[in-house]
Amino acid sequence: IKRGLSTSSAMSAVIKNVTVIGGGLMGSGIAQVAAQTGHNVTLVEVNADLIKKAESGIAKSLSRVAKKLYKDDPQAAEKFIAESQSRIKGSTDIADAVKDSDLVVEAIVENLEVKHKLFKNLDAVAPPKTMFASNTSSLSIGEIASVTNRKDRFGGLHFFNPVPVMKLLEVVRIPETSDETYEAFMAWGKAVGKTCVTCKDTPGFIVNRLLVPYVAEAIRMMERGDASPRDIDTAMKLGAGYPMGPIELSDYVGHDTSYSILVGWQKKFPDNPLFVPNESVKKLIDEKKLGLKTGEGFYKYS
Ligand code: CAA
Ligand code: NAD
Repeated sequence: IKRGLSTSSAMSAVIKNVTVIGGGLMGSGIAQVAAQTGHNVTLVEVNADLIKKAESGIAKSLSRVAKKLYKDDPQAAEKFIAESQSRIKGSTDIADAVKDSDLVVEAIVENLEVKHKLFKNLDAVAPPKTMFASNTSSLSIGEIASVTNRKDRFGGLHFFNPVPVMKLLEVVRIPETSDETYEAFMAWGKAVGKTCVTCKDTPGFIVNRLLVPYVAEAIRMMERGDASPRDIDTAMKLGAGYPMGPIELSDYVGHDTSYSILVGWQKKFPDNPLFVPNESVKKLIDEKKLGLKTGEGFYKYS
C-alpha cells in the first residue's frame, strides 16, 4: 500500500506557487485559502487600488477564519493572519506574476473573449511546467483552453462563494487534460481544504446546472407577483433547509455574473426554457445594482 501511495503522489506535480488572476469575490477567496494552507500566492489585478481592495477583503475574511480556528488563543490567531497575509503578493504584471508559477487560477469576468485574451497572453509568458485552470461558472473549459498550446495542462477548478467557507471544489477535465494534471488538481484541492468532485466539461458542471435554473425560476415567481422576495427566501430556508433563499443568493452571487451565465446558455441552447434570462435582473444591472458587492440588488445592504 505504501508503495502505491508514493507512486501516486510522485505522479502528480506538487503545486507550491500559485498565481490567481482577478481579485474580486472569487479570486480573493481562492488566494486566501491557498495562502492559509501554506502556498505562495501572487494575486493579479488590473490596478493597485483593486489589489488594495482585495487585500482588505482578505484581511477581514482571515480574521473571521482565525476567530473560529483559534477561539481561545488570540496570539495564535494573529500569527495565522500575519503568516497567511505574508504569503500573498499583489501584482499588476502578468509576466512577472507567472514566472515561477506551478498553477494559474483564472477568476476574471465571465466573458469568453476576455478570458481568451488573457490565456493567450499567459500561454506566451508562463513557463512550460505551469498548469492553467479557470474558475468559470458556466463557460466551456475546452473553449477557454482552445487558445493555448497546453491543453494537457488545462482544466477547470470551480470554487464556490464564499470560498473560505464553502467546502466543495469541482475539478473539470477536458479530453486533453493529462492524468498528471488531473491528479495534481485533485491533490491541490485537498491541500487547500476542499472536498473535490469531478465533472465533465458540461454547462454549469454539477452545482450551477442545478442551482442557476432554480434561482432564475424563483426570480420568475417574484416577477409574476406570486409571492414576495422575503417570503420566497423564508420559504426555501425553512421549507427546504437552504442556508440562503434564492433571491438573497442571487444578490450574493452578483447579478452581472448570473445574468451572463444565462445569456451564454440561452445563446447555445435557445430551446431550453430553464435558461431564459430574467428581465428584472437585466434592469438591476442597468441600474448598476449588482447585489451585495455594490450594496444593492433585489435587497439593500448597509
Ligand atoms: N470569509 C470567512 N468566513 C466567513 C465568510 C467569509 N467571506 N462568510 C461567512 N463566514 C463564516 C462566518 O464567520 C461564520 O462563522 P461561525 O460559524 O464560526 O460563526 C459562518 O461562516 C457563518 O456565517 P454567518 O453567521 O455570517 O452567516 P450564515 O450562517 O448565514 O452563513 C453563508 C453565511 C456561509 C454564506 C451561508 O448563508 C451559505 O452557505 N449560503 C449559501 C451560499 C451558496 O449557496 N454559495 C454558492 C453560490 S453559487 C457559486 O458560488 C457558484 C457559481 O459559479 C455562481
Ligand atoms: P468579480 O467581478 O467580483 O471579480 C472579477 C475581478 O477580475 C475584478 O476585480 C476585475 O478587476 C478583475 N479582472 C478583470 N480582468 C482582469 C485581467 N485581465 N487581469 C486581472 N484581473 C482582471 O467576479 P467574481 O464573482 O469573482 O467572478 C470571477 C469568475 O469566477 C467568473 O468567471 C465567475 O463566473 C466565476 N465564479 C463566480 C462565482 C460567484 O458566486 N460570484 C462563483 C464561482 C465562480
